Amino acid sequence: MCGIVGYIGHREAYDILVKGLHRLEYRGYDSAGVAMINPEGKLNIYKHTGKVAELEAFCQSKDITGTVGIAHTRWATHGEPSDVNAHPHYSTNGKIAIVHNGTIENYNVLKQALMQHGCEFVSQTDTEVVVKLIEYIQSNNNCTLLDAVREALNQVIGAYAIAVIDSDCPDTVIAARKSSPLVIGIGDDETFIASDASPIIDYTNRVVYLRDNEIAIITRDEPLKVITTDNEESTVDIQTLRMSVSQLEKGGYPHFMLKEIFEQTNTIFDCIRGRIAADGTAIKLSGVSDHPDRFINAGRILIVACGTSWHAGLIGARLIENFARIPTRVEYASEFRYANPVIRPDDVVIAISQSGETADTLAAIKLAKEQGAFVYGVCNVVGSSIARETHTGTYIHVGPEIGVASTKAFTGQVTVLAMLALAIGQLKGTVSKEQLTEVARSLQSLPALITETLKLNPQIEKLSATYTYVRNFLYLGRGYNYPSALEGALKLKEISYIHAEGYPAAEMKHGPIALIDKEMPTVVIAPDDDLHEKVISNIQQVKARGGSVIAIVTKGDTTIPAIADHVLEIPPVPEAISPVIAAIPLQLLAYHIAIMKGCNVDMPRNLAKSVTVE
Ligand code: AGP
Repeated sequence: MCGIVGYIGHREAYDILVKGLHRLEYRGYDSAGVAMINPEGKLNIYKHTGKVAELEAFCQSKDITGTVGIAHTRWATHGEPSDVNAHPHYSTNGKIAIVHNGTIENYNVLKQALMQHGCEFVSQTDTEVVVKLIEYIQSNNNCTLLDAVREALNQVIGAYAIAVIDSDCPDTVIAARKSSPLVIGIGDDETFIASDASPIIDYTNRVVYLRDNEIAIITRDEPLKVITTDNEESTVDIQTLRMSVSQLEKGGYPHFMLKEIFEQTNTIFDCIRGRIAADGTAIKLSGVSDHPDRFINAGRILIVACGTSWHAGLIGARLIENFARIPTRVEYASEFRYANPVIRPDDVVIAISQSGETADTLAAIKLAKEQGAFVYGVCNVVGSSIARETHTGTYIHVGPEIGVASTKAFTGQVTVLAMLALAIGQLKGTVSKEQLTEVARSLQSLPALITETLKLNPQIEKLSATYTYVRNFLYLGRGYNYPSALEGALKLKEISYIHAEGYPAAEMKHGPIALIDKEMPTVVIAPDDDLHEKVISNIQQVKARGGSVIAIVTKGDTTIPAIADHVLEIPPVPEAISPVIAAIPLQLLAYHIAIMKGCNVDMPRNLAKSVTVE
């Protein structure tokens, strides 16, 4: 939910910290701050409500010198967005500063105990409790910063990724993590810390993904040292990043979201690369072929995810039941983790997460593993917590998704789930060679079909002007495209703030049809599939009540264009993978309506890209 950055080395820290905050701003953007230790050994802290640009303006006249520093961009959990609640937080003696991503669940207990020892607090945050606890331990035990941090972390309960500096030891940065991500970049005589690799890639591709309960001791001109909170030496596992800087820039597009919508031609190509035989007769997913018995003997499959990933999971469940004939259930991870679910050792749990850091999904995985299930991850971010926590999995390989509204990750997830369903069906013999080849070849044709579908952009941009000031939308779909309706509604509401609901088309007459009038347009996903005739009657029901209809139809449909108000034509594609193509106009419609409304599509209000807290 927040982004943290740290630096120690031979360069001025400020520019590196602020540039890093810009890269992480998609993780949270209600306030930002920096702390540097200047050459005279003074700790300077500057923080401001609003986006990073407002912090930069605030720092214009300040002393921003120093080659060691930490920084933070916030998505508020404890305490409203304000200057005083912004990070970095600092000790009473003004010497120690901390930045933190996560939530400390026992912060109130610790705060009361510290207050009984005369400690005073200026903010409502849990993070201030941590730095005041470190200060208290350091002075009470007369110990080093490292020992004080380690002892404090053994007292806190909750999730954290922290970076700490102390003006009494200006050549050291202490970093630590538990359940929130933290990456360390190893440069030449310089070290970088960040919530993900995007602030680091400009300077080095050598990274260490800190593991849970590990503490990194980063000392100027010394090799990185890592210990556990139990004070045991840890291995330093340096990996090479495969990310490029260009992937992090907008590439000429006005917004990351539009760039990522248009990237889908290439990202789907990357997603299937090496995973479908050239002639389409076989699927190759090592996550399946390395564990055949798990899937052959699976009593059922449980899919856990949140948000857009949960929508992809609904499609995945249909695909798996269709091609692999294994009973499959989809659960919101946030519900699953507290439902005391019955989990059996022959269960296979599939966890879907773009960021690989969603707290509820991570918790669901841990619960499933504790009860003996085999857990399979479908993630985008390489080396993410979920990718490392699952027994095996498949990366969707769509590259960094910066826009808060998930687009290319959704189509990548659905594509991987289609391949996964076919791979399991291939293993179990529940899908015929002809059927597998037909769907696999359609997957191979997706990049070209997406390119064709993206040509709808000008028509959708024009259409969006008609609906800019609508206050409610209904999205309808059936079968594989019922989840498409849910996804289309989510896209619209999260970036345009227009209320939208997705429904199974046939469900409309059981209540929602009462909402229909000329003020409430309906988007209907109606490709040429087995349910096409049924959807036509649903459209007629809407029209009969004065509602306007935007219909997504297969090119060549002559029936629906005669009754709908607006028609968006997509190329023919097998029903099972039609959500990948139907997603494109849904994404573009949400994007253009939001732009027409003047919304910030890359950083919508109240949201953040990675929900690493409950
Ligand atoms: C999607 O547009 C949303 N930003 C959100 O629902 C997202 O899908 C959800 O938070 C899950 O994130 P994850 O895939 O990284 O786990």
